[in-house]
Amino acid sequence: MSRRSLLENWTPEQADRMNRAIFVAQHRLHELEMFSDDALSELLDRHPRRDLGVNTMGHDPARRSEWREGSPGALTGEQLLEASRRGRVWLNVRRVLDHHPEYAQLVRDLYADLEAAVPGLVTYNHSANLLISSPGAQVYYHLDCPANMLWHLRGRKRVWAYPLETGIVSDATVEGVLAGEKSEELDFQPEWDELAITTELEPGEMITWPQHTPHRVVNTDGLNVSLSTEHMDRAAARRNNVYLANRHFRSLLPGSWNNTQLAGWRAALKEFSLRLARRVPVIAPQPPQGYRYPVSFEVDLAADDCIRLLDEPAPVAVG
Ligand SMILES: [Fe+2]
Repeated sequence: MSRRSLLENWTPEQADRMNRAIFVAQHRLHELEMFSDDALSELLDRHPRRDLGVNTMGHDPARRSEWREGSPGALTGEQLLEASRRGRVWLNVRRVLDHHPEYAQLVRDLYADLEAAVPGLVTYNHSANLLISSPGAQVYYHLDCPANMLWHLRGRKRVWAYPLETGIVSDATVEGVLAGEKSEELDFQPEWDELAITTELEPGEMITWPQHTPHRVVNTDGLNVSLSTEHMDRAAARRNNVYLANRHFRSLLPGSWNNTQLAGWRAALKEFSLRLARRVPVIAPQPPQGYRYPVSFEVDLAADDCIRLLDEPAPVAVG
């Protein structure tokens, strides 16, 4: 049975640019009933709370220390959606593919359409997170290890992407993020915004960029809903492995190990050697550790911004 593509108005010229530039294109996921208020409330009710990220944050994009981890408390899906509409909340419905078969099918269809549209693209290790967030909420400057794509569904948001060619991200930073070390302390300087490519994303638009491109996001209007998908392909795996091999072999062997060239036999050998080293305990690199923020607030419809800090007493209902 044939199915209408989830991508809209893609030309071969566009598809060709996808992996090489900061790239905006159209899709039609936002037309689906699966992202309506009712469907999202139900999704939130069914979603295991251990895989629900609940965050809030400050207003200054340079103060990432104001990012907080929270708890959804005993709120229902409908109430969490209400808090996202009225408050300053960022919900991350993680591991959609593992928990929601109908959304997983949608993501499989999406990747099938993408691979059909982009000659030579073969992706694997797919993952998807659904982001539901308040007007004005933001995500601080950061970079992601896999290739990632943001399929925007509801509300409006402004995205800043900082091209790798500007050189604002050093190879050491990329290595640190890949090794799980630096993601929480990526400094941001507001003057870098002059180097950024910015886009106001509307429902029905998707943005992606070359792997490791740093970016930040501010919601500009309304309740925001977006699907964030991640994947790997051979080139993305090679890139990560070359950076990780440089870092690892520099600590074990003489030489500067700073060549990030991805093509040719040297890069292939590096990747192969790193894969081998991972299997030998004494020389294996440490797996990334990651950092978890302490839970410091609870979502509360009666509190300012629907955020009740946990060191404050709960508002008492009267009457
Ligand atoms: Fe990201």
